[in-house]
Amino acid sequence: MADPLSLHAPRALAGTVRVPGDKSISHRALMLAALCIGESRIEGLLEGEDVLATAAALRAMGAGIERETDGAWTVHGVGVGGLLQPATHLDMGNSGTSTRLLIGLVASHAVTATFVGDASLSRRPMRRVIEPLSRMGADIRSSPGDRLPLLVRGLCPAVPIEYSLPVASAQVKSAVLLAGLNTPGVTRVIEPVATRDHSERMLAGFGAALTVEAQADGSRVIELRGEAELRPQAIAVPGDPSSAAFPAVAALLVPGSCVTIANVGINPTRAGLFAVLREMGGSIGVTNERVVGGEPVADLVVHASALRGMEVPPALAPSMIDEFPILFIAAALATGRTVARGLGELRVKESDRLAAMARGLAAIGARVEELEDGLAIDGSGGKPLPGGATIDAELDHRIAMSFAVASLACARAVTIDDAGPIATSFPGFIATMETLGAERVATVPA
Ligand code: S3P
Repeated sequence: MADPLSLHAPRALAGTVRVPGDKSISHRALMLAALCIGESRIEGLLEGEDVLATAAALRAMGAGIERETDGAWTVHGVGVGGLLQPATHLDMGNSGTSTRLLIGLVASHAVTATFVGDASLSRRPMRRVIEPLSRMGADIRSSPGDRLPLLVRGLCPAVPIEYSLPVASAQVKSAVLLAGLNTPGVTRVIEPVATRDHSERMLAGFGAALTVEAQADGSRVIELRGEAELRPQAIAVPGDPSSAAFPAVAALLVPGSCVTIANVGINPTRAGLFAVLREMGGSIGVTNERVVGGEPVADLVVHASALRGMEVPPALAPSMIDEFPILFIAAALATGRTVARGLGELRVKESDRLAAMARGLAAIGARVEELEDGLAIDGSGGKPLPGGATIDAELDHRIAMSFAVASLACARAVTIDDAGPIATSFPGFIATMETLGAERVATVPA
């Protein structure tokens, strides 16, 4: 049953919170640990539905994955090449990252697996992984439109390829590299623009022979030597900057707020939103900078700020690709116009995020224009938006959280039709916002 959500802020937000572990790193930690022989230990794993879908699929293919009483997770891997035939289909739920990365893993194993997902995931394009992985020799049969349900018959040994990414996608890059792990020879991926580099950092950390060469034109060449032997690791997963984005923007928007978000990953390939918000006038300080598990981490200190609209440089898009929904909320309260373009990829996320944000923003009284590949928003100049509407979150966690935050800056509370999908990436979102002083408004289930 749908679980409607409506938040309001009776006073300034204040306090210190932590956000759950990074989703991208959590998926990769489980997958790489599953490909070691021996026991890895993961602290701070995101226990969201997306990551649990990855864990269940890896268990179905032979890995031992347990949550310990202290909250850490242990993984007993099967070794590169050791994945077993799953007895049933692999249910990916809402998770595109689980799907695309695991298709990569299966592609070079002697395994046949069927991937299924929820209504949102079953609409998302899979051609982007089918194409390179078929070139490596996997036999992949998809539903019409290159969608799930999809059957992969892996080839072992697979054929190493050189692949130039046609879309800026860390998922596609990672799928090819993961397939390359159990493939003889060198698998080479060329990305025209840098996308999140957790796979590269973690593959190297687990002992794979991997090199990354940055070219003068900004492109990167990643080479991975296959038939790798990975060594078990102890991993500490930093807090997810994509989750920190929601309390951070809430703190910027609710007058008088001062919020600290501790232990947030600030890898430059992920930190675009914070740079853009600062340029808009947002007060976002960084303290306690350190390196945890090969990733830069810090505490963010956010003060309520008057924001100015800006043109968001398209080159920043990959480093903030999941943060545009919440940036658009900030823009709707800023002074002046914000224009963001080059965002065609947002149309194939958990929902069509350009359409969902344009509809939702219009419904709460913001001035917004939907462009083919972006949005243009004329901000309210800091005045609360009318609000009062019910938003269809379209099974998209980030749409739901974005409008839950928008509600804090509206004259009348905004209702999210169903907060259920928030658990895919940010279990505890509501409790976190309540810790900072937001309150839940009573709603009637749809
Ligand atoms: C992810 C990559 C991005 C991002 C997604 C997580 C990853 O997707 O939107 O939430 O962990 O590699 P794309 O590869 O489609 O850009």
